Amino acid sequence: MSLTNSPGGASPAAAIATTKVTMPALLEMKRQGKPISALTAYDYATARLVDEAGIEMILVGDSLAQVVLGHDNTLAVTVDEMLHHTRAVRRAVRRALLVADMPFGSYHGEVRDGLANAVRFVKEAGAEAVKIEGPRVELVRALTEAEIPVVGHLGLTPQSVHRMGGYRVQGKTAEAVTALKASARALAEAGAGAVVLEGVPREVAAAITADLPVPTIGIGAGPDCDGQILVLHDLVGMTFAPAAKFVRRYADAGALIRGAVERYREDVERGAFPSDEESYHLPQAAQRALKTGHKQEALRKA
Ligand code: KIV
Repeated sequence: MSLTNSPGGASPAAAIATTKVTMPALLEMKRQGKPISALTAYDYATARLVDEAGIEMILVGDSLAQVVLGHDNTLAVTVDEMLHHTRAVRRAVRRALLVADMPFGSYHGEVRDGLANAVRFVKEAGAEAVKIEGPRVELVRALTEAEIPVVGHLGLTPQSVHRMGGYRVQGKTAEAVTALKASARALAEAGAGAVVLEGVPREVAAAITADLPVPTIGIGAGPDCDGQILVLHDLVGMTFAPAAKFVRRYADAGALIRGAVERYREDVERGAFPSDEESYHLPQAAQRALKTGHKQEALRKA
């Protein structure tokens, strides 16, 4: 049992403006030159903290395959698993725009199949937009026509890990930069409301950001994008491999949790947990009756 899910008791950070963030609101932020903050979240508790901290866009990223489910890459996570986590995040998020990542294989075939899977994220899990990797312009157009906002994702697209031969910075030649710029423009023209740029040189991200009418959200793409996104577990130190160059670790929650768990184990082992104050007690009358009962029992046995 835990009573942690009550809707009240919000932290002081909940004082952040509660105006709902929508896809048009992100566009307006770009127009006004206001940086967009985005983070991943995969469960109720962390999504609630991220939302209450005032982050504008929360992505239920397929990175959950790695940071939550322990897979080596993002390829194994399924639509059902992504739906399950998106629903949990949905219950927590009030203000941020909630975007669900479409997992590998769920949009790589026929456009109508990608559309049907995207509909599930909106209908069954409450996503307000879906994110897809690569220049899948036809699918973006179909999703837009079906009233499903789309976030594109270009550059180092982790679902292409085998084609790329590893996680390598993309857009390092003149031809690659031209292709990236053309893809970003094509996605925006097809209706994408924002484009994530991952693992590309700062100069390339800056040029695409200046060229696009919709916001770019960077990860490992330098400071000139319209917004930034990180994986929450990287930001708070809850991962088990060396962090990428672009990660800034704002906290060491891993050490905090490990320390707390060790202290708990030690207290249990030396009988220091729970204390009398942490125990429930019988009412006085029931205690007396219990004592009397025990005495009578002892006398009967004697
Ligand atoms: O799945 C993910 O975490 C992403 C990143 C862009 C944050 O796609």
